[in-house]
Amino acid sequence: GTQASSNAPLAVVTTSSAVVPKEATVLFGSQTGKSQGLAKKLSKQLEERGLNVTLSSMSDFKTNNLKKVQNLFIVVSTHGEGEPPDNALPFYEFLHSKRAPKLEGLSFSVLALGDTSYEFFCKTGKDFDQRLEELGAKRLTDRVDCDVDFDEAAAEWMKNVLSTLGQTTDAVSIPGDSGPAAENGTASDYSRTNPFQAEVLENLNLNGRGSDRETRHVEISLDGSNLQYEPGDCLGIYPENHPQLVSELIAAMGWNANELVTLNKQGDKSTVQEALLRHYEITVLTKPLLEQAAKLTSGSALKELVAPGHEQDLKAYIKERDVLDLVQDYPFGGVTASEFLPILRKMPARLYSISSSSKAVPGEVHITVRAVRYEAQGRERYGVCSVQLAERIHAGDTLPVYIQHNPNFKLPENPDTPVIMIGPGTGVAPFRAFLGEREEIGAEGKTWLFYGDQHFTTDFLYQIEWQRWLKAGVLTRMDVAFSRDTDKKVYVQHRMLEKSKELYQWLLEGAHIYVCGDEKKMAHDVHEALLTILEQEGSFSSDEAVEYLTRMQQQKRYQRDVY
Ligand code: 2AM
Repeated sequence: GTQASSNAPLAVVTTSSAVVPKEATVLFGSQTGKSQGLAKKLSKQLEERGLNVTLSSMSDFKTNNLKKVQNLFIVVSTHGEGEPPDNALPFYEFLHSKRAPKLEGLSFSVLALGDTSYEFFCKTGKDFDQRLEELGAKRLTDRVDCDVDFDEAAAEWMKNVLSTLGQTTDAVSIPGDSGPAAENGTASDYSRTNPFQAEVLENLNLNGRGSDRETRHVEISLDGSNLQYEPGDCLGIYPENHPQLVSELIAAMGWNANELVTLNKQGDKSTVQEALLRHYEITVLTKPLLEQAAKLTSGSALKELVAPGHEQDLKAYIKERDVLDLVQDYPFGGVTASEFLPILRKMPARLYSISSSSKAVPGEVHITVRAVRYEAQGRERYGVCSVQLAERIHAGDTLPVYIQHNPNFKLPENPDTPVIMIGPGTGVAPFRAFLGEREEIGAEGKTWLFYGDQHFTTDFLYQIEWQRWLKAGVLTRMDVAFSRDTDKKVYVQHRMLEKSKELYQWLLEGAHIYVCGDEKKMAHDVHEALLTILEQEGSFSSDEAVEYLTRMQQQKRYQRDVY
């Protein structure tokens, strides 16, 4: 969980010259725990410099205390189409409301996490930054917006924050660079920046013959890594690009695949081939990438596309196109690999909700991954990691992995608490982990799973396991919705509405609700169904129903892992 790492009141410390330690509050809002890791790192550094630090999730922060804060640091990611993450929402709304206090005495700085392939890049961080200024607070250092490869930018922000605080605060001493703090409390040396080469033990297609889907069940050994995880956590994997796409790109540019290129500031080198396979992202186009590419192209067309006034055309162009399209559509004759590669984004890891309980399968981690394949611009497109897993990874191969802890998707602490799990498609993955865990610890609380996919016969992922858990009483109820077996589509939310009485009863008994899977459609419709159930069965007004779910979210009784 999240907590204040130092609750001590502001006190006079007696050193040679008595000084009041400065206060700093570090608030994070994140869907996956990335912001939390960075916020923790900053807190630790601030504490080492003698500040009195409060570290808190935005959802746990008492807004009454805002007036007492002297230095506020916000680390927040942006979710979906520019929305705040779930656990940032109440604080975000408070600050943007009329109830927000004037904050003239406050200094602040914002670290925004996001993804430049989204239109509303880092919007939540930008909003906080602007709003705090409007409320009269003073910007200590400029906001930094990070792309998916956030390490360098985030480190730069932290450095600026610490040195600026050092200049403005008597009480802060800056010792020599103590290096980065550990990101979390696990003993493992392996992390996102130092992944573990893990052996694949098993790799199966869960779908039956004739299915439109291919869903891989991949079992991976964590033996010797000391990596630990809990149900709800994610596995990060660094994938490789499709070798054919890499070859075509090299051929289109007329590069020599074996030529050496420099990969980073440290001067590490690899061949062009290796660099494009493992180190750079080539399947996504972003606006900043096109702006950089426009400086390298010999023609004027790309320069025009990135010029002001063509935003809609640019948006349409980058959708479902990749770097091969880019170099085929615009002239890049003579541009060398050493010139071109540095404008690409570093290959980001892919995160998958873990589908195993480490108590049930010690030393292993399982994931459940749907292969993404579609056609665009007359060419077959492949999800980088999912298709690598489907086509090129076999038992005995290794993958660079790490654990991404997700504090926002955790089973209730009390094993007697009932849980309702809603996870159609691969959204069911973490619930296999939940039930595995509950079985191992002998939990007595009731469990209810809503599952759905296209067809019963080919797409019922882990069917035998659910049935076994039903029999064993680990799973109390299961309702399924197979959308394409009947004339009319049935989805999980329809099943929830059919069972609204019982579902409301479970809520009264204190059940926690978990939703995993597609955000825009499924999770949105499930949220609406929950509101309907509250109105129907609890006689709530629509405002009260919204309020009830918000409160459940704040109490961590309603958690989502949606993408
Ligand atoms: P469909 O593709 O037949 O429309 C898992 O992907 C399941 O989620 C599929 O059965 C899919 O149905 C379904 N699904 C699609 N849109 C949904 C929505 N808005 N709410 C719930 N389930 C949905």
